[in-house]
Amino acid sequence: MSKKRLWITRRLSDATLERASRDYDVVINYADTPGTAEELIVASAEFDAIIPCHSEHFSADVVAQFADRLQIVANHSVGVDHCDLPALKQRGIVVTNTPDVLSDATAELAMLLMLGAARHAVAGDRIVRTGAWDSWSPAFMVGKQVTGARLGIIGMGRVGRAFAAKARGFDMDVHYFNRSVLPDDQAQGATYHETVESLLEVADFLSLHCPATPETTDLMNAERFALLPDGAVIVNTARGALVDEDALMAALDSGQVAAAGLDCFKVEPGGNPTLSKYENVFMLPHIGSATRKTRDAMGFRALDNVDAFFAGQAPGDIL
Ligand code: DGY
Repeated sequence: MSKKRLWITRRLSDATLERASRDYDVVINYADTPGTAEELIVASAEFDAIIPCHSEHFSADVVAQFADRLQIVANHSVGVDHCDLPALKQRGIVVTNTPDVLSDATAELAMLLMLGAARHAVAGDRIVRTGAWDSWSPAFMVGKQVTGARLGIIGMGRVGRAFAAKARGFDMDVHYFNRSVLPDDQAQGATYHETVESLLEVADFLSLHCPATPETTDLMNAERFALLPDGAVIVNTARGALVDEDALMAALDSGQVAAAGLDCFKVEPGGNPTLSKYENVFMLPHIGSATRKTRDAMGFRALDNVDAFFAGQAPGDIL
């Protein structure tokens, strides 16, 4: 039987590409440039399966121009806001993602951002690196202590819970807002809030872990920033769409927000040049899941989904 044709849109981990090359008639975009709308449309006629990343946009308009060959879009990401799911489903195309395997990597990056933002990592690094460190005083670079502080988590899915587990190692008092209250074995003592607003009022540290949907666009807007305790620290490793960046900068200007740690931006790649001027914002270029172990696991999970589909089974991560 001839092998199924698979397009891998980006340069995934070596182990993933090796396995894919063994099992499929695969085309790999070694140039590693994001797949364009035109390329996706052409691919829909040439391939049975695509493994894309969040950098390829399956909008309703693009999907409407698809040919009939493509059967499965097996995302190499947990977030699927780059996919118009109803449009893909209407075309009979199966869509999967890669949950679980990136929760720890993303949660540890959130921890890095929280600590770095709270303890002046950007300004401190710059001062030492540029030779500008010429004095010391007890009032110098005084930050906000993480250990024992109150932490608010919006979105207690897998990544939110992994982050809560790491935060407990810092004796943080964990509060959360989620679409539903968690069973005790998942909540692990975290305090549930019925509204985002109620959570924000106690969130000395706030970390976002919910998906980007039309409902969560600009979830953190001016009104909500105003509810945070003075000098709060906000962390976003989920999606840039969740934060109104102008409102964040206003909150940083007023001191309502003391510092932010961001791995996601409204515009990616690139970020926000105005936000980049704030030394109390610790920024990383969307690398939450970027560890070797996790990237292998994501690639294998995407391939597991493709394998299951072509074996006539329901893929484990079907959406
Ligand atoms: C995800 O999996 O959603 C990460 O943001 C990487 O794409």
